Amino acid sequence: MAPDKTAKKDMLFHPAGDLKKNAHVPDFDTYKELYAKSIDSPDDFWGDIAKDFFWKTRHTGRVLDHNFDVTKGEVFVKCMEGARTNICYNVLDRNVHHRNLGDKVAFYWEGNEPGDELTVTYGELLHGVCRFANVLKSQGVKKGDCVSIYMPMVVELAVAMLACARIGAVHSIVFAGFSAESLCERITDSRCSLLITADGFYRGEKLITLKLIADEALRKCKDKGFPVQRCIMLKHLSKDPEEIPQGSQSPPLAKRSRPDLQVPWNPEVDLCWHSLVAEASDECEPEWCDSEDPLFILYTSGSTGKPKGVLHTVSGYMLYTATTFKLVFDHQPDDVYWCTADIGWITGHSYVAYGPLANGATSVMFEGLPTYPDVSRMWAIVDKYSVSKLYTTPTAIRMLMKYGGDPVRKYKRESLKVLGTVGEPINPEAWQWYRTVVGDGRCPIVDTYWQTETGGHVLTPLPAATPTKPGSATFPFFGVVPAVLSESGEELEGASEGHLAFKRPWPGIARTVYGDHDRFEATYFRRFPGYYLTGDGCRRDEDGYYWITGRTDDMLNVSGHLLSTAEVESALAEHEGVVEAAVVGKPHPVKGESLYCFVTLAEGAAYDAVLEAELKRRVRERIGAIATPDHIQSATGLPKTRSGKIMRRVLRKIVCGERDLGDISTLADSSVVEQLFQSRC
Ligand code: PRX
Repeated sequence: MAPDKTAKKDMLFHPAGDLKKNAHVPDFDTYKELYAKSIDSPDDFWGDIAKDFFWKTRHTGRVLDHNFDVTKGEVFVKCMEGARTNICYNVLDRNVHHRNLGDKVAFYWEGNEPGDELTVTYGELLHGVCRFANVLKSQGVKKGDCVSIYMPMVVELAVAMLACARIGAVHSIVFAGFSAESLCERITDSRCSLLITADGFYRGEKLITLKLIADEALRKCKDKGFPVQRCIMLKHLSKDPEEIPQGSQSPPLAKRSRPDLQVPWNPEVDLCWHSLVAEASDECEPEWCDSEDPLFILYTSGSTGKPKGVLHTVSGYMLYTATTFKLVFDHQPDDVYWCTADIGWITGHSYVAYGPLANGATSVMFEGLPTYPDVSRMWAIVDKYSVSKLYTTPTAIRMLMKYGGDPVRKYKRESLKVLGTVGEPINPEAWQWYRTVVGDGRCPIVDTYWQTETGGHVLTPLPAATPTKPGSATFPFFGVVPAVLSESGEELEGASEGHLAFKRPWPGIARTVYGDHDRFEATYFRRFPGYYLTGDGCRRDEDGYYWITGRTDDMLNVSGHLLSTAEVESALAEHEGVVEAAVVGKPHPVKGESLYCFVTLAEGAAYDAVLEAELKRRVRERIGAIATPDHIQSATGLPKTRSGKIMRRVLRKIVCGERDLGDISTLADSSVVEQLFQSRC
């Protein structure tokens, strides 16, 4: 079936009848009723949900308490004050011991190579986590300490994060695609004394020698006066079967196993995951944490260029990820759920790890790429495990769409029931293709809008309840009150367009920027006191649907990954041949946006292929491959206001070849604009 090109942008798609039969929220009236309850009596609404969880001590304060108004004092959010619990206990022990799910599969791990696979039950995961929690304790990690994790998508990554949570340590997971410099910056900022990594992994055909990168990061940390005491390394590729004790949560030897892999070893710092685990007990009493104790730090780009360590706390994050997962994917006990995100991003934290596990769900965890060994891989996996709920990105959908419907139709996909997307706006064409080709027109699409800072979905359809419009994230989740604000902070009513903000907290909202509460207030709360400002623009249509229109700050979204223009600009300007750099986003048919960089060269420097390659390498080294510029243009000058501010608005028009520049009366020298048009890449 070809995608329906005639579908209008705001065509309505009603949820399918059979999905409604057992759905948690079966129709739109029920959504509206529950939404009203969540707003009118949030303490009752979340208090009822909290009854499903295990609390060592019950809460004494309000379920939700907050101040969003900087003019009235410090911004704070508190959830379930006075309660003590442990999130690891709730996602593992509660399932094994209270819900009899010990033998249920938690993860079907699917490796990069077809045929590399591993099945892990809740009972096995609990034992593996307890062992590793004991390892961390034996290495001196205590409640409140921060542990950095830099690992590929292997089950041990989930084991490591849950082990931290079990002992009350704070995990800081760094996506394994980040560079040594980025890892070093995150380790030093969060003051981690222990790093957990792996020898290496394959992404498709490409070998990533992770330990080498981790070692370089540790050298940089030492140079900065911050020596990391210990580095635990998992042998993922280089393992010797003799060395791996039974039941240590290790996948079988991978097809591409590399016993010859050169892994540098520093006996003063390095420790072998497998040897440590072999000696550890598989019982470990959880550390009972206060509701507002920190659970994890996750770095996200900041407009100053320095990444922000977004901090989430135990109880609110647990309640919110569990509830959004259950309702947004309408989780049912026999589901097989697959989120393609890496655990190194917030989507993986909330919807590969904590949310599904809190619900006792069975998930696929995938190490590889949608295009390896061929572009049918995702559909092969869907059929292999009978995936019923699939959650992926618009970039992946657009990329696979390029190859047409045949690679999809090679597989049946009869098990699919709900299709989700996340991370960036989805264009209506990709939405339609996802629905018609991937879902054979049967499955509702849930376009979930949220952020690292929101912890979980904040604008989203519910699959059996919400009529959807392609490209709209539809309506707020329970407890979430959106507002559309004008430039002057006036709250707009009805159909309108402006800044997307939220008027009150939900349990999963971030509590602070690690070590810099002032930056937290400045970034999200100071411009419009009383509101959490998302940094996204949005339109609300005449039916009340929300449409995200893109970032309103100096942030770019490349393949669903937020990047700060300032961070890329400072990497470029570090090169001796560059005097000044300006980076803007250029619309890209697959990635959503790509990086288009303008560089003004130092006297005597010439722009040639060598310089271009050096600049691209510099950005990769500074940030990681995800930030590699698509275009670099040498510019004799940049369009600036008389006060010297770069006019990015004009640069964005130039990269798109749009001659209508709008008001340029503040432009200091208009001749540079024509030069830039002439020398466009
Ligand atoms: O711009 C929005 C975009 O991604 C940003 C958040 O990025 P990050 O913190 O990395 O988290 C990504 C995964 C939740 C948002 O500010 N974004 C995310 N989801 C959507 C979206 N834009 C439009 N539609 C979405 N569904």
